[in-house]
Amino acid sequence: MVERIQHLERQFIKRFGKSDRPLSVFFAPGRVNLIGEHTDYNGGYVLPCALQYGTMLLIRVNELHRLRMASVNFPYAGEIPLGGTPGKVGQEWVNYPLGVISQFLPHLTESRGMDMLFEGDIPNGAGLSSSASIEMVTAYAFNELYGLRWQMIDLVRASKRAENEFVGVNCGIMDQYAVGFGKKSHAVFLDCDTIRHEWIPLDLKDYRLMISNTNKIRKLSDSKYNERVQECSKAVDYLKKRMDIKHLGQVTMADFEKYQETIPDETIRKRARHVISENNRVIHAVEAMRKGDLEELGRLMDQSHESLRKDYEVTGYELDSLVDASRQIPGLLGSRMTGAGFGGCTVSILHKDQIEIFMKEAGKRYTEMTGLVPSFYAGEVSNGVTALQYP
Ligand code: GLA
Repeated sequence: MVERIQHLERQFIKRFGKSDRPLSVFFAPGRVNLIGEHTDYNGGYVLPCALQYGTMLLIRVNELHRLRMASVNFPYAGEIPLGGTPGKVGQEWVNYPLGVISQFLPHLTESRGMDMLFEGDIPNGAGLSSSASIEMVTAYAFNELYGLRWQMIDLVRASKRAENEFVGVNCGIMDQYAVGFGKKSHAVFLDCDTIRHEWIPLDLKDYRLMISNTNKIRKLSDSKYNERVQECSKAVDYLKKRMDIKHLGQVTMADFEKYQETIPDETIRKRARHVISENNRVIHAVEAMRKGDLEELGRLMDQSHESLRKDYEVTGYELDSLVDASRQIPGLLGSRMTGAGFGGCTVSILHKDQIEIFMKEAGKRYTEMTGLVPSFYAGEVSNGVTALQYP
C-alpha cells in the first residue's frame, strides 16, 4: 500500500507541483453483492460486501480557490472555480466527483481550493461499483478536509443523490452504503426501507468468493436500468388497488400469489415476482450464513440468477454463459450475476482447491460460447471508506 501511495505522490507532484501543504490520502472500496439484486430501489433487502479493490484519492489544499481533478486511469482532467455550479461533462469519469462536489458546495463556508488525484483498480462497468467508490472517496475526503462533520449515512446519501441527480441513474442506495459501511469478513445486511443494517459474519471456511468478469462492458446510464425502475413502480401502482403498500419490498410471496392478477401486464408481473422472491432469498441467505450453511447460500445464489434471467431479464447471453460454464466445475456451491446486470461480473462460491481449474476450464468454456476472454478476481471482504495514514 505504501509503495502504491509513494508512486501516486510522484504523479501528484508532477501534475500539481510541490507545496508545503500536507497531502492527505483516502481509500474507498468497491463492492460485490452476494444476493438481493434490484431490490434496493424497491425498499427491499440487500447483502453486499466491500472488496479489497477500490479508489485511492490523494488530495491537497491549493491557493487557487479552484478544485482540480485528475485521474491516473483516464486522460480527462477537470477544473472548476469554488463559487461556480458544476455542469455534467459528457460521459467522463469526472462526473462522479463533480456530482458529489455539487452536493457539498452549498455547505462550504470557506474558499480553500483542492487538488485531487484519483487512482482505481476496480474494473469499470463491471458491476463492482467503481462509481460509488469514486463518489464515496470524494465525499469522505471533503467531509474531513472542510471539517463538515457529516455522519457516514449523510455521505452515503449525498453520493447517491450525486448519481441520481447529476449522473442521471436512478440507482438505489446499496452501492454507496456498502462502500461506506463495509466491514472486513462481514456482509452488510441492509434493509433499504428503514436504512438500517446488520453486519453478518461471512465465514467461507475452505471456500472463496470468486468474481468473474464477462468483459462485456455495460454502461449503467445507457442501460435498461431506469426502465426496470419504472416497471417496478408500475407494478406498485397496480397492486395498490388491492393492497396498502408504498413499494414492492412490503409485499410477501403469499400476498403476491393472492393479488398478482391485479397486474394485467405479464412483463410487469414478472418484474414484481423477481423483486418479491429475491427479497425472500436475502432473508434465507442471512439465515444460512448464520448457520454456516454455505451449500444453502450457494443454492439461493443460483436461484437468484435464474430469477434475474427469466423474470427480471437483466442477465444477457454473456452473463448466462459464464454462470452456466461456472456451474460445470466441481467445488462450486453457487454462481450468479452481481450488480445491475446486462454484462459485468458474476460472483461464485468456490472451493479454494478448485480456483486454478475453475479459471482454466470455466474460462475456456465461456470463450468457446462467446468469443470473449473473461477475467477473474479473488474477492476479499474488506472494510469501508477510510483515511490512510501517510507518510
Ligand atoms: C446498481 C445500482 C444499485 C442496485 C444494483 C442492482 O449497482 O447502483 O443501486 O440497484 O444495480 O441490485
